[in-house]
Amino acid sequence: MALRRADTISQLDDALSDARRGGQRIGCVPTMGALHAGHTSLLDRARAECDLVVATLFVNPLQFDRADDLTNYPRTMEDDRAICERHGTDVLFCPTPEVMYPGPQLVTVDATPLEGFLCGATRPGHFRGVATVVTKLLNLVAPERAYFGQKDFQQLVIIRTMVRDLNIGVEIVGCETVRDDDGLALSSRNALLSPNQRAVAPLLAAVLNDTSSAVAAGNGDASKLIAAARATLSAEPQFEIDYFEIVDPGTLEPVSTVTAPVRIAAAAYLGTTRLIDNVAASPPD
Ligand code: PAF
Repeated sequence: MALRRADTISQLDDALSDARRGGQRIGCVPTMGALHAGHTSLLDRARAECDLVVATLFVNPLQFDRADDLTNYPRTMEDDRAICERHGTDVLFCPTPEVMYPGPQLVTVDATPLEGFLCGATRPGHFRGVATVVTKLLNLVAPERAYFGQKDFQQLVIIRTMVRDLNIGVEIVGCETVRDDDGLALSSRNALLSPNQRAVAPLLAAVLNDTSSAVAAGNGDASKLIAAARATLSAEPQFEIDYFEIVDPGTLEPVSTVTAPVRIAAAAYLGTTRLIDNVAASPPD
């Protein structure tokens, strides 16, 4: 089936009506565009598991806490469309802000207990924007499954919890982070890095992996692990660390001693570009 583009809600309904009538399994991959191999791994997984695949492409103003970040967010519509086509996507939903937010958004979705940590601590309102737009997209597409990357780990935890607590009838599928050969997690923001910044960027993943190995080797003192990681990252003067945390993978609360599986998560700036990444870690049996 050729890729159908839907810009409005009625075009989306038209594009999905046969699949809905025929009881087909709809898979949804929400994105903000600037698609890379991380996104295509989600599209491919949805293609393998669902009858009809909908990608959504919407740079959601509600989740940006800085106007310049929203303005500078990469927009590559024609490339994105071609990528979706190559990966067998059936429908590309590209609403404008006016379609998604025709008036003031008076009702929003909060996951307050999960928002105060990690990215939420320094990006006020970000996860309210994410949870609100994802709820709207899930309501509009009504998929059986929706696919998200583990790179945005806090986002994934919040969306899973939101779907559970609000009884939204969709299965959330969390997919592995896709990395460049040097370990850098793929991100639309990587396109904003200068050659010098790109050269040092893989250090973030390397430090996360070293910390995970230290946990596996039996080092469970979180403050020592974090101090060592921060020292290594700070030795590269281009990095400005936002956070480096070891957290419970369900509640996202920081742990002081690692006695069970944890998530190690970090965010750091290279210039004005903010990179995030995370890895799992488990103490020895
Ligand atoms: O991860 C993203 O690209 C966005 O946060 C999402 C889930 C598409 C919501 O705008």
